Amino acid sequence: MTESIWKAKASNAKAISLSEDIEVEVAIVGGGITGITTAYLLAEEGIQVAVLESMDVGGGTTAGSTGNLYTMVDNRLHHIQSKFNDKTARKVAESRTTAINLIEDLIKKYAIDCSFKRQPWVLYSETGEEETIKTTKDTLEKFGLEVQDITSTSLPFNIKSGIRVENQAQFNPAAFVAGLAQKVDQNYCSIYENSPVHHIEKGSLHVLHTPTAKVRAKKVVLATHSPKGIYGLQMAIFPHREYALAARLRSGDYPEGIFWSAESKTHPSLRTYETEEGKFLITVGYHHKVGQADENKDYFGDLEKNLKRHYDVDTVAYKWSAQHYKSSDGLPYIGESTDDNIFVATGFSTDGLTYGVVSALIFRDLFTGKENNWAEIYKAKRFTPLKSAKSFIKENLNVLGEYLKDYPGNADAEMFSEVKAGEGKIVEIKNEKWAVHRSDDGTLCAASAVCTHMECIVNWNNEEKTWDCPCHGSRFKPTGEVIEGPAFSPLDKRSINPEK
Ligand code: FES
Repeated sequence: MTESIWKAKASNAKAISLSEDIEVEVAIVGGGITGITTAYLLAEEGIQVAVLESMDVGGGTTAGSTGNLYTMVDNRLHHIQSKFNDKTARKVAESRTTAINLIEDLIKKYAIDCSFKRQPWVLYSETGEEETIKTTKDTLEKFGLEVQDITSTSLPFNIKSGIRVENQAQFNPAAFVAGLAQKVDQNYCSIYENSPVHHIEKGSLHVLHTPTAKVRAKKVVLATHSPKGIYGLQMAIFPHREYALAARLRSGDYPEGIFWSAESKTHPSLRTYETEEGKFLITVGYHHKVGQADENKDYFGDLEKNLKRHYDVDTVAYKWSAQHYKSSDGLPYIGESTDDNIFVATGFSTDGLTYGVVSALIFRDLFTGKENNWAEIYKAKRFTPLKSAKSFIKENLNVLGEYLKDYPGNADAEMFSEVKAGEGKIVEIKNEKWAVHRSDDGTLCAASAVCTHMECIVNWNNEEKTWDCPCHGSRFKPTGEVIEGPAFSPLDKRSINPEK
């Protein structure tokens, strides 16, 4: 079973489902850190808001994240500096520091029980990588952070070089979001769980349809990572999945801090999380594009093996994975994507907890007519062909390749009997591709394998037992219902003739 430690240790936000039609000024789709912080800030300004979460508040990508809060960014600040300029990199650092401070203030104000702790961020190298370490240090110092050179860490192995930045932070993100949801001013904000939006009818007053009722709103915030529906922006954000596990140690010290390796492709990040049940060592890494996992790889197994290189692991108590979207120019897209009063917040890469709160601050200012210092660098309508071209071309050729795989005969199996218990396979039936799953008790179910977003063929994700779309990252349950991503509708059900 995959469940994140954050979700397991967080209490419930105690929200109800939408049961009657309502009208608000702002409807927010998605109850993760972006949606709930935006709702909190807008309600504070006296704006009527409703949040529609398809499952449980804070239980999606927020609960699948690392729980780390830091000013620096996944693709490194010096890359933003060289791609854009000093001013942009400075604003990224400033906005992210402000977001972390806001999280800390809210936790203190409401005594939210989410294990928030200021911690150092450490970048180290076991093999050298002096150039990467030095460039990272110079850039961070330039943008106001205090950086220390280090030659050792609390990790149980030697390093060749490294740096340490104090005053970054860690917390349980799911507990923070559930706690904040309970403090939102209920005079101005209603939060609904288990209320998936199936369709948005655009107009001067947008109408959001859920299975049970409708919400009318002047403005809509799609706090769903990739915006729900079809947007040109989806050609500029690229979905990835990354794996995590939380282990108990038999012996040895749990390291204090956020540890990134300069050799990050092969060395996952590390951190410790302490609960009333004791400490856990958390490791996160080995990402791949959604729906394009290497079939020969066991991602969780590899994470465990890597941890065991240096630690005396007793048990792996939790394992989970989560989705992130990399943007083509390295900055998130936050704001109105076209002139329709529909706002997006996406392309956060693995830095989403902090960028989610940056988005909330930007939305608050945009909706109250205040000036915001960072809105321009992140604006969703920006056009940056020179900065985006390389990854834009590479990633969209990859998507094109996935569409081309839909040729006749390119299926995993021809017979239902080839689908074993617990497996999912693409079976071709009269030139149509079906996504066929056999549950552990032997029951077969089938749906069209054509993704309901833009008709790519989904692939089976054996680690998580889901159907994942390799084009823009929609994910579906084995039985076809939407889990996440831009698709609104489930895979089309097919009825099975077990003789086939
Ligand atoms: Fe776009 Fe599947 S997510 S086609």
